[in-house]
Amino acid sequence: KQWFEQSQDLAGKQVIVTAGGTVERLDPVRFLTNDSSGKMGFALAEAAANRGANVTLIAARTSAEPIQGVNIVHVESAEQMLQAVLERYDSADLVIKAAAVADYRPVARANHKIKKSEEKLVIELERTTDILKTLGEKKKHQFLVGFAAETEQVAHYAMDKLVRKHCDLIVANDVSQEGAGFNVDTNIVQLFGEEGLLEAMPMLRKREVADRLMSIITQRMQAKAA
Ligand code: CTP
Ligand code: CA
Repeated sequence: KQWFEQSQDLAGKQVIVTAGGTVERLDPVRFLTNDSSGKMGFALAEAAANRGANVTLIAARTSAEPIQGVNIVHVESAEQMLQAVLERYDSADLVIKAAAVADYRPVARANHKIKKSEEKLVIELERTTDILKTLGEKKKHQFLVGFAAETEQVAHYAMDKLVRKHCDLIVANDVSQEGAGFNVDTNIVQLFGEEGLLEAMPMLRKREVADRLMSIITQRMQAKAA
């Protein structure tokens, strides 16, 4: 139980949050991943649970502190994350895709540890499925929130992702700014809806960002349903 009062405006809602960086294996002891800590996604899952939602957190590689009151499903790869989300998508009211999903994975996964041989080794990669885009294409009643990690032309790329992936909202972070994005406790986000920029937040702790985002998400969900 939280010591503070929190409105239960997501009571009875099924919420899926994805978090962390996916792990794409090369062999039994090696993998490709990224710097995502999972903290933003974990904070969002906690914020949704505090508002009374029934939350499933689909977590790839993360260094975030475990949280209470949410159902955690652990996955490794983009493919496993896709399956885990799709299994639960029909009954979801809200999906927040905070995970840093690998764009590429090794074409081949060796069953045994790869031995060194030549001076140079070329690893062939192939595109992963875009989970968010897949969800956007299958969207019915669900409210879909995507993220965009950018280093330039933030508004342009964020709006492009919103439209292309059929999202209701996009949370953009300029990961080239200090105090934003991967593996820090703070974030600087801009929230975009179909009409454009909705809110630009200052640098805040991820828990505070999550709380503010959940307020806006809840309002927009209610407005869409009304
Ligand atoms: N995403 C996804 N599946 C992928 C890649 C990305 O679901 N295979 C989701 C992320 O979880 C995030 C959003 O798409 O919510 C945007 O991710 P981002 O990496 O910023 O954009 P991409 O579409 O992958 O484009 P790029 O990396 O080229 O900017
Ligand atoms: Ca990407």
